[in-house]
Amino acid sequence: MNKFTRTLVLLSPVVALLGCGERSVSYSADVRPFLDKYCMRCHGEGGEGSEESGLRMDDYKRLMKGTVHGPVVKPGDSFTSALVMLVEGRADPSLRMPHDGEKMPTQDEIDLVKAWIDQGAKDN
Ligand code: HEC
Repeated sequence: MNKFTRTLVLLSPVVALLGCGERSVSYSADVRPFLDKYCMRCHGEGGEGSEESGLRMDDYKRLMKGTVHGPVVKPGDSFTSALVMLVEGRADPSLRMPHDGEKMPTQDEIDLVKAWIDQGAKDN
């Protein structure tokens, strides 16, 4: 293998990753089903998460409004979005979401939500 091919081989996973990152993520097709699956039983009307934090996820507007203390999604910045920090367990582990730890999302599913936030958290 010459130097050029070696560089290509080394770079291809990076290129593949960048390629994935460019896929446009949609609120209604990707994020909403995620929330329905993992969060809505506590963050819908009358759910314990809604009651305790004020955070409802019934629709885009409510999700973006956040808790009684303010937004949990920062468009363009998934790393510091409280929603992502909790789901990834980066805050206090006792605050990890989903709270009961029963049905946990996979990293791939979490990455999709992160990509959506990084792409501007649009109502798309
Ligand atoms: C079994 C119930 C339950 C499930 C499922 C659940 N939550 Fe929660 N959530 C809560 C409760 C209770 C609170 C309020 C107490 C707290 O903050 O720990 C809360 C609060 C939150 C908060 C606000 C924390 C703050 O800053 O006050 C966020 C963000 C959150 N949940 C995100 C999620 C996400 C995202 C999911 C789905 C991946 C999810 N939750 C699933 C029960 C749940």
